Amino acid sequence: MSLIDPVEHLKQRVAELLHDVPDEVREAMRLTPPKDRRFGDLALPCFPLAKLRQQPPPAAAAELAAAFTADDVVEAANATGPFVNFRLRRGAIARYVVTGVLTRQAPFGPAAPNGKKIVIDFSSPNIAKPFHMGHLRSTVIGGALRRIHRHLGCEVHGINHLGDWGSQFGKIMTAFRRWGSDVELAKRPMHHLFEIYVRYGAEKNDALEAESAEAFRRLESGEDNPERRLWQKLRDVSLEAFRGPYERLGVEFDHITGESFYEDKMEAAIEKIEATGIVTESEGARVVELEDRGMPPCILRKSDGTTIYATRDLAAVFYRMAEFSFDRALYVVGSEQNLHFQQLVAVLDKMGLPVANKIEHVPFGLILSKDANTGKWGKFSTRGGNAIFLEEVLDEAVANVRRIIAEKNPDLEDADQVAEAVGVSAIIFNDLKNSRIKDVKFDWELLLNFEGETGPYVQYAVARLSGILRKSEVGANGEAPQIPLDRVDFEQLADAEQVLLTMLEFGPTVERAAELNEPSAITSLMIRLAGDIHSYLRDHNVIRAEPDLQMARLALVAAARDLLRVGLALLGVATPDRM
Ligand code: ARG
Repeated sequence: MSLIDPVEHLKQRVAELLHDVPDEVREAMRLTPPKDRRFGDLALPCFPLAKLRQQPPPAAAAELAAAFTADDVVEAANATGPFVNFRLRRGAIARYVVTGVLTRQAPFGPAAPNGKKIVIDFSSPNIAKPFHMGHLRSTVIGGALRRIHRHLGCEVHGINHLGDWGSQFGKIMTAFRRWGSDVELAKRPMHHLFEIYVRYGAEKNDALEAESAEAFRRLESGEDNPERRLWQKLRDVSLEAFRGPYERLGVEFDHITGESFYEDKMEAAIEKIEATGIVTESEGARVVELEDRGMPPCILRKSDGTTIYATRDLAAVFYRMAEFSFDRALYVVGSEQNLHFQQLVAVLDKMGLPVANKIEHVPFGLILSKDANTGKWGKFSTRGGNAIFLEEVLDEAVANVRRIIAEKNPDLEDADQVAEAVGVSAIIFNDLKNSRIKDVKFDWELLLNFEGETGPYVQYAVARLSGILRKSEVGANGEAPQIPLDRVDFEQLADAEQVLLTMLEFGPTVERAAELNEPSAITSLMIRLAGDIHSYLRDHNVIRAEPDLQMARLALVAAARDLLRVGLALLGVATPDRM
C-alpha cells in the first residue's frame, strides 16, 4: 500500500487549483505554517495571485478557498485575510505517520539512493597533541551529518583527516627522544604525549627548534629512517588510543586518511597549481597571493622546502575530486579556521576550478565551562589548560549518571550499561542542542537534568513508551511490538493531534538539517516530540482504553517511540529500553 503524505497531497491540490496561473506566480506561492495554529495546519499566502489578478489579496484568498473542495486528506480550506488556511484530516495524518514509521518508509526510514555524493571531513584531531573540545564538537557534529545525509539517500564518505604530519611532528619527536618513555607511552599514551608536548613548550630554545626542524626534514625526505619509524610508532599508538572514545561516541569513519596520506601527492598538487600561473615567489617561499581578495597569501611551500597544512588540504581536494567526484565537500572544523578555508576556496577559484563552489566550511562555536571561582563562562579548560582527554570527560559523565541512577532507580537492571548510554549521550545531545555556530555551555548539572531539554529527558520518553508497550498485549514477552496496522482505526487518534503534527514535521526537518548542516534542527524536534508525548500521556490512558481505542493508541505509542529512536540515532544518541 502506498502511503499518502498529506502535505505533498495538499501541495498537489494547490498546484491543480493554480493550474492556469503563470509558473512564476505559482512558485512564489508557497505553503507556510500559519501565524496561528488555530487557523489551520498550512497557509497559502495569496499576494502574488492578487497582484496578477489586480485584486485585493483577501478577495483572491476568498475566491481560492471557495474553489477548493475537501477530500479524504484535506478537510477544509478557509480564507483568513490574504491567506487560505488548510486543515488536514487527523485520520489521514495519523495513517501516514504511524504506518510510515512502523514500516520504516522514507522519510521515517532511509531513502533510496539519490545519486548525490558527499564528502564529510570531520573530527580530524592532531594525533601528537591532545584532543581538545573543538575536536569533540567536530566529531559529534560530523558524525551526525554523516548519518543524516546517508538517511536521505546520499553516498557519504566520512573522512578523518588526521593531523598526522607537519612540522609539529619534528617537535614531538624531539621531545620524545629527550623525555619520552615507551613504558609510559604504552600505559597512558595521550597523557604522556601531552606531558612531553607541554614540556617542549616550556623548555623551547633555538637548539631544540633546530633539532625539530631537522627531524621533520628527515621525516619528510620519505626515506625509511629512525624518524620515519618513530613517527609511525607515535601515530599507531595515538590512533589506537582514539579508538575507545570513537566507539563510545558511536562514530565511524569511511576513511582514515590523515595529512600524511598526501605526502607523496604534494609535488603533483603543487605542480598543478603552478601550471595555472598563479604562484609567485615571496621571501623564498612559493605562495598564491590573495591580496585582491583581502586575504594574506596562501603558502604552498616554505623557503626551507617543506609544505604546510594548506598545501595538504589542496592536495586532499584534488585527490577527493578524482576519487569520489563529490557534489558537496563539508569540512566540520571550528570557526577559528574560517580564514584557512576561505583561502582554500580562493586558491581553487583562482585556478578556475568549479570545485571551489562545492567546498563548504561547516564551522561551530566553542565549548565553554564555568569558572569555579568567578562563576563566569570561559573557554573550556581543565587543570591541564585547554587540553582535554576525551576519555575522562566521557567517564565523568557516566559516573554522574551512575550516581543519579543509584539514587532514583536503585533496582534498575544493567545499570552500568544504561549509565554509559545516558552519560555519553548527554554530552552528544548537549552539543547538538543549539545551532552549531553558538558556543556550547558545558555544565554537568544542566546537561544531565532529567527534566530539562537534555538527552536524558528525551531518552526517558523512549523508555516510558517502551514501558507502556511492555505492559500491553502487543509488546508482552519483550519482543518488538507487532502492531496489526490493518486493525488500527486511525480516526481514533484525533485527540493526539499535537503528537501527530510534530511527527509530520520529521521529513522536512531532516531535509533542513541536511541542507543547512544543522543537526540541531532534529534535536529540537526530538525535544518537542518528547514533550508532546508526555502531555498526551498525562491526559490519555493507553492500557485502560477500550480495545479499539487501545489498539490505535498503542500504534501511536509504538510509532512515537520508534520515531524518537530514528531521530536520536541520527544524532548518535543511544536509547535504552529502561532507565
Ligand atoms: N587537524 C586539524 C586541527 O586540529 C583539523 C583538520 C580539519 N580538516 C581539514 N581538512 N583541514 O586543527
